[in-house]
Amino acid sequence: MSRTPPTVSSASDVLVVGGGIIGLVTAWRAAQRGLSVAVVDPEPGGGAAQVAAGMLAAVTELHYGEQTLLALNLASAHRYPDFAAELAEASGQDLGYRACGTLAVALDADDRAHLRELHALQRKSGLESEWLSGRDCRRLEPMLAPGVRGGLRVDGDHQIDPRRLASALVTACERAGVVLHRSSAERLSVVRDRACGLVLADGTQLAAEQVVLAAGSRSGQLAGVPDEVLPPVRPVKGQVLRLTVPRRHAPFLSRTIRAVVRGSHVYLVPRTNGELVVGATSEELGWDTTVTAGGVYELLRDAHELVPGITELPLTETRAGLRPGSPDNAPLLGPTTLPGLLLATGHYRNGVLLTPVTGDAMAHVLATGELPDEARPFTPKRFCAAGLQSLEQSA
Ligand code: GLY
Repeated sequence: MSRTPPTVSSASDVLVVGGGIIGLVTAWRAAQRGLSVAVVDPEPGGGAAQVAAGMLAAVTELHYGEQTLLALNLASAHRYPDFAAELAEASGQDLGYRACGTLAVALDADDRAHLRELHALQRKSGLESEWLSGRDCRRLEPMLAPGVRGGLRVDGDHQIDPRRLASALVTACERAGVVLHRSSAERLSVVRDRACGLVLADGTQLAAEQVVLAAGSRSGQLAGVPDEVLPPVRPVKGQVLRLTVPRRHAPFLSRTIRAVVRGSHVYLVPRTNGELVVGATSEELGWDTTVTAGGVYELLRDAHELVPGITELPLTETRAGLRPGSPDNAPLLGPTTLPGLLLATGHYRNGVLLTPVTGDAMAHVLATGELPDEARPFTPKRFCAAGLQSLEQSA
């Protein structure tokens, strides 16, 4: 049997491993800076964005201890309107960006206490949110259950359709001259302690000045990356449902509704095209992407407690994806200790929200060698021995 000999393609300035939204936005923004860029992915535009609901929830997904991440989330949220307009123009596609706001509601006394604490933390962090009675919540969203005990109105947490975002980024990349290699990256090439390219699954060798590892939850799996540089990302499974609101039911919900029901997060994200996304489980089960009866049951049960009318709607899709979790729930952005290798991964629950700021930060560091100030706390070096030591010293 004859084998096609490996080919060495011409070198590019930047090679991006992973054509999900983070890899694509990195490639697009880097190409706009005049760098020659190639992306390696068997299915560019795939990945977690095909499952994600697309909430831009910097305020409603605030957590204790994540103030540094909050600053990055807010920076990205503020950039979204211009980013979406620019990308829509560059791709000729509508991204489904909706400045619709979010309502986080409580169903019982425990949920209410949890929301009150979130409200206090939001105020302490200088964020805008308004406490509403149950009656006021239902006035805003009449489909809510009569049992809703109160809620937080957050007019600044919007949404985008991640599938459209991914598709638009593929087109924008192509139009900006980014080369898409529809293949898998098999191994990082390292010569004299410097990353200098990739070997693809078909044996093709690609050379580059800089390689960006942006393979989502799989970023820790590329052969050839030295152990001490491999990003500490892990898959966190999320099951998500898609329902359809028939025209006769519209408007069903006018904004994103979310809640913590018996300790589990549930959200309902209504799109203008009638899609209603219900998410999401959070499961530490390795690489498993099975949609389970239990997962679907829990999501529907919790969503039904919030909005009983959903049982009337057709259930059109069930799917599971993998969030790239990191040890501190924040992304890893920028150079590693291996010269020539950079990371853009570990975005965990915030990949869609952080897409604009990640593109800007990565393009900046690729073009100048320096991470912009807003991205410095997210250097991958914070997880290596020297980085941990300097963090301990500054504590
Ligand atoms: N940000 C929503 C989720 O990860 O489920």
